[in-house]
Amino acid sequence: MIHLLLRQVKTLVRWLLWGGKVQSRSSLERLYRKVDPWGYRQNPDDQLRKDKILAALGDRQFKRALDLGCGEGWITQDLPAEEIVGVDISSQAIERARQTARGESYITCDLNKDDLPEGLFDLIVATGVLYSHYIVPRVLQKIMKKLVLGGYFLSCHIKDWEQFQIPLSKIHEEEFTYRGRTEHLVLYRK
Ligand SMILES: C[S@@+](CC[C@H](N)C(=O)[O-])C[C@H]1O[C@@H](n2cnc3c(N)ncnc32)[C@H](O)[C@@H]1O
Repeated sequence: MIHLLLRQVKTLVRWLLWGGKVQSRSSLERLYRKVDPWGYRQNPDDQLRKDKILAALGDRQFKRALDLGCGEGWITQDLPAEEIVGVDISSQAIERARQTARGESYITCDLNKDDLPEGLFDLIVATGVLYSHYIVPRVLQKIMKKLVLGGYFLSCHIKDWEQFQIPLSKIHEEEFTYRGRTEHLVLYRK
């Protein structure tokens, strides 16, 4: 409990020291002028990251999945759910995700400012997005409210950059090398 509190305080202090700045929508839109700006589709480390994420979900089948900061939907479209919603701040990323969608829906949404999509989800995925250069700490509460009791939350982030403490029970945890860093994948249950 103390550990959890200290981690939250550390996140808040870092965020305040940095001036509470997060990357703006316009700066992310500039990045998305290029298709697949992080080169996920070509990088074997990203294929590995996606495979690990899907393997961690196992053979569970979800009713409604929400992918936060879904980008162009590269991971989103393979999530094992009847209904899948991806949200991202970049309208260009969302437009591209819609063009290659296999039934998922995509919504432009700034997690820091906008309401999350209607209703509750039994799977929420956050990969490469819960960093303090993107997200302000209070957003975590808003996200947690969207998860049904018994629902799953999957987080996959670069370990050194990870700053948010997820207030749920860990049911699976692993680390692997990703782009020369350590990637930390955790599956939580509410
Ligand atoms: C590093 S990429 C990760 C993309 C995808 N989740 C993946 O792992 O393949 C981070 C994504 O978060 C999105 N993002 C950053 N800040 C955001 C915010 N405030 N609200 C919604 N999306 C945001 C970016 O536009 C970008 O698509």
